[in-house]
Amino acid sequence: MLSDKYAAEIAGVLARYPIKNSAVLPLCYIAQDEYGHLSIDHIQEVADILEMPYTDVYEVATFYSLLYTEPVGQWVLQVCDDNPCCFTGTEELVADLEDRLGIRAGETTSDKLFTLQRVKCIGACHRAPVMQANLEFLGDVTPDKVPGILEDMVQKAQSGATLSISGRFAEQ
Ligand code: FES
Repeated sequence: MLSDKYAAEIAGVLARYPIKNSAVLPLCYIAQDEYGHLSIDHIQEVADILEMPYTDVYEVATFYSLLYTEPVGQWVLQVCDDNPCCFTGTEELVADLEDRLGIRAGETTSDKLFTLQRVKCIGACHRAPVMQANLEFLGDVTPDKVPGILEDMVQKAQSGATLSISGRFAEQ
């Protein structure tokens, strides 16, 4: 249970806010890093800790593209397919990633290493085309850079380094 395993961290998060509801995102991060994604049960667990209705937490979990309600791979590759990125090569980039990974956007590789997703603007249109890999931002991504990027990710995964899929470890 999160409330047991992360009691001190959760208490620290709750202490930052005047009302419990405000801690919903940090608690979703804790749950996601613990379980890998936010299932119905995980969302309920967060709701119970915060004494919030399940549906309120569910709405948050399904709104943000960095929260996953389905299992994902160690690396979640999110390619922006909003207009500015599309003008500079998103479709070619997605097609190249699909070919190399052997999956379609929305799917996870059989070795559970990569999930490929399309997302809307991630606020870096000046570096289009852009993608995000977990919390790592990558700009000016053209297909010729993809082999090196994927190889780097494979090596990081094999190194045993913590690959946070949430914002929780961003400042560590
Ligand atoms: Fe792709 Fe804004 S349109 S980052």
